[in-house]
Amino acid sequence: MLLRFEGALNKIFGNDLNPFYHLGALGFYFFWVVVVSGVYIYAFYDTGVEDTFKSVESLMHQEWYLGGIMRSLHRYASDALVVVMFLHLLREFILGRYRGARWFTWFTGIPLIWLIYIAGINGYWMVWDKLAQYSLTTLVEWLDWLPIFSMPMSSYFASANGIDNRFFTMISFSHVTIPVLILFLLWVHIMRISYPTVNPKRGLALGMLLGMLALSLLKPALSQGPADLYVEPGTVEIDWFYLFVSPLLDSWSAGQVWALVFGITLLLGVLPWLPCRAKQIPVAEVSLNNCNGCRRCVADCPYEAVVMQQRSDGLQFREEAKVVADRCVSCGICAGACPSSTPFRIDAGYVSGIEMPSMPMTGLRAAMSDDLAKLQGDARVMVFGCDNAADIGKLRSAGVAVMSLPCTAMLPPSFIEYALHEHRVDGVLITGCRENDCYHRMGGQWVAQRLSREREPRLRGRVERERKRGRIRQFWASSVDFEALSLELESLRADLRNLASVQTEAANEDKPR
Ligand code: HEM
Ligand code: SF4
Ligand code: SF4
Repeated sequence: MLLRFEGALNKIFGNDLNPFYHLGALGFYFFWVVVVSGVYIYAFYDTGVEDTFKSVESLMHQEWYLGGIMRSLHRYASDALVVVMFLHLLREFILGRYRGARWFTWFTGIPLIWLIYIAGINGYWMVWDKLAQYSLTTLVEWLDWLPIFSMPMSSYFASANGIDNRFFTMISFSHVTIPVLILFLLWVHIMRISYPTVNPKRGLALGMLLGMLALSLLKPALSQGPADLYVEPGTVEIDWFYLFVSPLLDSWSAGQVWALVFGITLLLGVLPWLPCRAKQIPVAEVSLNNCNGCRRCVADCPYEAVVMQQRSDGLQFREEAKVVADRCVSCGICAGACPSSTPFRIDAGYVSGIEMPSMPMTGLRAAMSDDLAKLQGDARVMVFGCDNAADIGKLRSAGVAVMSLPCTAMLPPSFIEYALHEHRVDGVLITGCRENDCYHRMGGQWVAQRLSREREPRLRGRVERERKRGRIRQFWASSVDFEALSLELESLRADLRNLASVQTEAANEDKPR
């Protein structure tokens, strides 16, 4: 369902601006909008009991065109941050991008939820209106349920005297320091990811900003009357994104709500380690005899799982590659990047500089050669694809051979050359996850760059000519795009037949009469 929904969004926005492909980056973006608008309104904020509410009100009414807009932006960007955070969490979960070595990024996301909520709720208290009063009184009672305070906190807030200037100094201090902590955690969150996307595409960022500005003008964020601890707050309008716990506490007991909140946190925390049926592939291995220290595997690994270290085997290269096993997700992209992963090597049992032990390059070459030798008929095509995208196994036929890899970027471009020139297939189709949505983050991008000769290992000149003649095609298709992929294969085969008949005609014309 998610893939179909995203497919519809792709049709509206295009793959580049599909917000679902940039949820993490949008999270960063909304965080910065919150910071910038927050710094502005903080400059006018007063921490005195009497002055807090008034300072926010005067910002709204005397300077609505800037202060008012900034306050509304601050609120709407905070709401948007929560929305994209949960969509991002849900999406990573549905697509299974949190298991195995990927646990780290998932796990470090969990405290972010807590901190973003604490900062948001704390922000609502700073306005000190009726909503703040309602939120503060319900949450303090909720906190009192935990046996951690020597004296119930609610007794402190039981009278108007309980709230003094120090209280506002304290909450405004925490409202500034928690975001610093969030920023630090965000840095930890993406630590094990190479080339993380932390800025959304310009069009997307601009669209979101315009949307928030329009909302700020149409429905400005307003305070709901000054707080008065002697009077019940009465009916207040809730921000359901942040303050849903307060109304929940009206119908559930404090213990039940704690059980829900801790239960969800615990469940999220153990999810990466719950049993699943996905097969475990052994991690990448370096063979020093075949490694020249070129660093291509380091540049292409999407998970910071390959590092370079000083040469340890006495060979005359300066460095050697080393796999950090507990970060490796077994995508095989490094093997596709290594210059020694070429099927043209003459030794039958060769080992590449970096290999997937369960899928060595010699094995892939042998499997491909066997398959290609069996092809019959015209317009014979070799399809390379990925286990996480459209199932290319179903494309296999008398004229079509297939090879599915953990990620299409595990394919060294020399295999394409090998298929075209050693086995004389008529065409090659390369497929994998949808554009901007590679299961292994960078795989699709690396393949496209290798094929267009912008990235090592590049297609060699003679293969590049075949590509320009239309013999090599890329088509990105997720597991729900199989129909489109098989149509693309048919269209490639039809073009190859046309190409063959044009060549035959040209050859006949060139023959002497
Ligand atoms: C607002 C808070 C958050 C922000 C700004 C954020 C941001 C990001 C960014 C920028 C990435 C890298 C995307 C890429 O370039 O591939 C990422 C990845 C990820 N995040 Fe978050 N994140 C947040 C919260 C969370 C939460 C709450 C969870 C789950 C508990 C989570 C789980 C993940 C996972 C599983 C990945 C992918 C790791 C992988 O591909 O191996 N994030 N996040
Ligand atoms: S298989 Fe290679 S590219 Fe993939 S995570 Fe492991 S070391 Fe990195
Ligand atoms: S790509 Fe291959 S040769 Fe280059 S550093 Fe990595 S393992 Fe060594």
